[in-house]
Amino acid sequence: MAKQMRIGVLTGGGDCPGLNAVLRAVVKTAINDYDMSVIGFKDGYEGLVLDNYIALDKDSVSGILSRGGTILGTSNRADPFKFPILQKDKYVYLDRSADLVNNYQKLGLDSLIVIGGDGTMSAAGPLCDLGINMIGVPKTIDNDLYGTDRTFGFDSAVATATEAIDKIHTTAQAHHRVMIIEVMGRYAGWLALASGLAGGGDIILIPEIPYDIDAICEKIKERKSIGRNFSIIVVGEGAKPEGGEMVIKRMIENSPDAIRLGGISRLIGEQIEELTKLETRVTILGHLVRGGSPTAFDRLLATRYGCEAVRLVSEKKFGNMVALKGDDLVSVPLSEVSGKSRNVPLDSDLIKVALSTGVSLGVTREKLEELAN
Ligand code: F6P
Repeated sequence: MAKQMRIGVLTGGGDCPGLNAVLRAVVKTAINDYDMSVIGFKDGYEGLVLDNYIALDKDSVSGILSRGGTILGTSNRADPFKFPILQKDKYVYLDRSADLVNNYQKLGLDSLIVIGGDGTMSAAGPLCDLGINMIGVPKTIDNDLYGTDRTFGFDSAVATATEAIDKIHTTAQAHHRVMIIEVMGRYAGWLALASGLAGGGDIILIPEIPYDIDAICEKIKERKSIGRNFSIIVVGEGAKPEGGEMVIKRMIENSPDAIRLGGISRLIGEQIEELTKLETRVTILGHLVRGGSPTAFDRLLATRYGCEAVRLVSEKKFGNMVALKGDDLVSVPLSEVSGKSRNVPLDSDLIKVALSTGVSLGVTREKLEELAN
């Protein structure tokens, strides 16, 4: 009789809605379709390095489909190749990949499914080379992971940000104010662009298009001249002025990408007030968009990803990440995903839609064409 396969699963990097839906699908598919057993590591790669895990069965994943966060916990500071250890109030970094491999072997695992973003996938490539049978599942509210058209978590974040923009809209209108809403997304503008369009933003600023403050003020004044006494500006946290820099909120010493962005909207707000003399207010949504229940779209995508990941394990197609191309599930080699990101292309449909519907992207059309060519 063939040996029962045993798989490990972990959730790494910043959390997002839908992580639990993937875990549920992994466990159910493993048990129902393949008679495999599953264990879950706590807090991302940290759990595998430190041998901290729990058995996952159908009971442990019951009722978690709609729950935000992750029942396993997560960490964006647990790179096994640069593992932080606190020594006398100071972090030192050790390569703990050998401990990870030892624990994987000791537990008799046949495969490891990692659910994460670029940090998690970048470590996954080198771990394949150390003999771990890796499968990746792409998550992030930023939607910036290379190799897939869509990460789960993005749709939920767009829905939450859109709801917030709708609410800001009514108070903007009532007070005749310029209202700026800043959303996360790191170096990619997907979240700002999608929620800005869905929420009817008048101006949308994304990292891919460095803005011109005069073009922004021009749009606000143009609106005022036709009786629109308020304006909604949606800003991605990575937005920057032409020739300027992104605003760094803080540095996280022991994180694979130490930079944490945030606060550009305050700068923009001050400049708008000074240049237009219009009252301006700023709301930074921050981690709010990472919380809460996944949308139906994300529940479905996360479930499809989880089932597909286990199918890849059963077919021994290791070293791949499940991905979405159009509406089809495909797999992409982890080596292709590692260290890359996916930004909003300037010729993308969403950019065209913004322009056709009169949304300003913070630059003149001529400038945008120049950037696109
Ligand atoms: O990658 C997801 C994300 O939420 C980014 O949009 C944001 O820049 C970052 O994580 C925030 O990280 P942290 O949770 O460490 O503050």
